[in-house]
Amino acid sequence: MSLQGPQTQQWFKRASQVMPYGINSNFRYWGDQDTLVVQRAKGAYLWDMDGRRYLDYRLGFGPIIVGHADERVNQAVVQAIQDGTLFAWTTPAEVELAERIVRLTAVEMVRLANSGTEATMQALRIARAYTGRQKFIKFEGHYHGSADSFMFSTAAASLNMLGSPRSPIAAPMSSGIPTSVAETVILLPFNDLELFERTVRARWGEIAAVFVEPMMGNVAGILPEEDFLPTLRRLCDEYGIVLIFDEVKTGFRIAKGGAQEYFNLKADLVTYAKALGNGYPIAAVGGKRDVMMTIAPGQVSQSGTYNGNAVVVAASLATLELLEKEGVLETVYQRGEALMKGIDEILTDQDVAHVMTGLPPMFGIHLGSDQPPRNFRDFLKGNASMYHQIVQELARRGVLPDIDGREPWFLCAALSEEDVQETLNVFNDAVRAVKAQYRANS
Ligand SMILES: Cc1ncc(COP(=O)(O)O)c(C=O)c1O
Repeated sequence: MSLQGPQTQQWFKRASQVMPYGINSNFRYWGDQDTLVVQRAKGAYLWDMDGRRYLDYRLGFGPIIVGHADERVNQAVVQAIQDGTLFAWTTPAEVELAERIVRLTAVEMVRLANSGTEATMQALRIARAYTGRQKFIKFEGHYHGSADSFMFSTAAASLNMLGSPRSPIAAPMSSGIPTSVAETVILLPFNDLELFERTVRARWGEIAAVFVEPMMGNVAGILPEEDFLPTLRRLCDEYGIVLIFDEVKTGFRIAKGGAQEYFNLKADLVTYAKALGNGYPIAAVGGKRDVMMTIAPGQVSQSGTYNGNAVVVAASLATLELLEKEGVLETVYQRGEALMKGIDEILTDQDVAHVMTGLPPMFGIHLGSDQPPRNFRDFLKGNASMYHQIVQELARRGVLPDIDGREPWFLCAALSEEDVQETLNVFNDAVRAVKAQYRANS
């Protein structure tokens, strides 16, 4: 049974005539039958073109932290745009936003951009310019945006593309990437300190940066083991390598100061986007003063016509104000804890091997094993098809996490206790329905 009602289907067909696959970003495609067309969203809900309501746990892949169409954020935008949107000069609002980001995250300086991909591209360039080296270490399953440099062994890969865990292959995730780009990236498994240390000691002279998602925001929220991030920090210090935390998903979500605060560790550069703007397209690259001051007009480029435009800066200021003053993340944590606990109990009661992963604001469900996955390879050994079936049953009943279990469940502060209860009731029914299908087929 298709997820598309008649109106949604009609719009999807129209979309497919003029946009490849009817979408504007590849990750949105759930197939011709199940890709939705959305009318509007409010708080924790969204409605498709047939007026079907969904409890939204994709939240635009993570940006919505307060809630969809928050009045306070929208009013700030409406007010700001009366005075123009783009000047190609610095504005007081930009200064205030940069000060607020610095205060919340403890980065020393910041530059604004428009998307996570822009921020990560710029961070890599700054690190290369700072060190005079060209290569960088990237971990399997980590996603740093759609720029050529990063599109290797991301969460889209399958196990047999990755090579031996002792010497991973940089597997390109798209045609159209020049083969020479693969030579600039060194792939390693997450949470494997022995291989990390061996690689850095052997090759440090070529390595500009270690790029890491401090928790695996693109593989079910897998957490770093206790020594992992501190060891990255120590070896980067020892060998003059720039440590870059990609906090596009964790920033302003797992703590006000993101992963740096949560794990009590400072990177040299940090990238932010998503929750920074509650759905408005803003990003930032920040970090230590001496590294950030590598940026220099005519020497090291960080630029963009729309950087710091009045629309997104107003949205971001209002979002961060709510984070600081309204206990947004406290609510997100409470709801997330209740949801994780409830899902865990349902799966245990129904005898489904599983382990809950991640943190309450962005968590995952690993099926097929009760051993916590340490890295991307472990996750790929799980029961992806059962997860897929459960999500289809959830979506039919109006609960909408992403269909791919690598994508965490995202929560926003607009989610109520009743919404959590509704989700758990639906989850229980969905698991029952899938188990009944398994029994019928066995
Ligand atoms: C950790 C991380 N970095 C970078 C990006 C790229 O961000 P954007 O899609 O805004 O370009 C993403 C997107 O999901 C991400 O999860």
